[in-house]
Amino acid sequence: MRLTVLSTIFLATTSLSAGSALAAGELNLICAADVVICEQMKGDFEKAHDIKVNMVRMSSGEAYAKIRAEARNPKTDLWWAGTGDPHLQAASEGLTEEYKSPMLDQLQDWAKSQAESSGFKTVGVYAGALGWGYNTDIFKQKGYKEPVCWADLLAPELKGEIQIANPNSSGTAYTALASLVQIMGEDKAFEYLKALNANISQYTKSGSAPVKAAARGETGLGIVFMHDAVAQTAEGFPVKSIAPCEGTGYEIGSMSIVKRARNMENAKTWYDWSLKPEVQSRMKDAKSFQLPSNKSAEIPKEAPRFEDIKLIDYDFKTFGDPEKRKALLERWERDIGAVAN
Ligand code: G6P
Repeated sequence: MRLTVLSTIFLATTSLSAGSALAAGELNLICAADVVICEQMKGDFEKAHDIKVNMVRMSSGEAYAKIRAEARNPKTDLWWAGTGDPHLQAASEGLTEEYKSPMLDQLQDWAKSQAESSGFKTVGVYAGALGWGYNTDIFKQKGYKEPVCWADLLAPELKGEIQIANPNSSGTAYTALASLVQIMGEDKAFEYLKALNANISQYTKSGSAPVKAAARGETGLGIVFMHDAVAQTAEGFPVKSIAPCEGTGYEIGSMSIVKRARNMENAKTWYDWSLKPEVQSRMKDAKSFQLPSNKSAEIPKEAPRFEDIKLIDYDFKTFGDPEKRKALLERWERDIGAVAN
């Protein structure tokens, strides 16, 4: 009898501590997409696993800077989403961990090649093309011509009507900078950006903020990923999205595990889970209309399709290279940031 009681207590304590050890499992996550999809992913993951997610939302450039600053004593385990260039930069600098997920074979070629070109230190989770969204009510009221080309954004009538993010904090704005350099050549791209500066009312921190401002009538137009413009239209705002006539760049939104992550196993659990088709198919419920990287995930009907957009052959290797990214950002700061209003 005594033995049974003791063993029952023993069993109860061990299963309890096993349970609480699991429940105490944690994952420190930087989420570099929009807050609504970040919250949805966190909630879905916590429902499916006994792991608590401590999440911070940051723009891509800020996420890179945090991971770099913490390199000696990492506080982040996993960096999910945001544009691929800073993930590639972190991979080149040895800040992220090599991991070959069993999910790799299920991914689109562009997502796999992101992994292969980084020595499996990052992977593609979604893709989306750059463009802009404009407020159709404002444009109609003020009699502005619909801007369909990058060149149209320089129209003097658009003075103070455009917003774009700062490429130092935002991966969206860095994609814009790198795309223009690839379309026009570096010097011409900076001349263009200087001329465009006359029409910019604000350089925001986050990449999608400009089109949210346009949706609410605070500005006429935001240069953003097209899916971010479409999300505002889906919210019921008078926003039209445009794919620039000269051609445009795109992002491979990526994911990386931090080198020497404290919760390495949990980071891998999120990594594999977030590449599943059913997880990616649910992104549209948060009005996240990128193209998913898992081939079997549902492509949202709202997602701008690459077939309909004049895309450049974006050189991820070059523009995700630490030297190149640093040099372009420094030049932007000198030529544009320093003179910006
Ligand atoms: C939005 C887009 C994402 C993109 C991200 C980059 O959330 O929906 O597709 O990866 O912006 O954010 P950032 O603030 O770095 O430009």
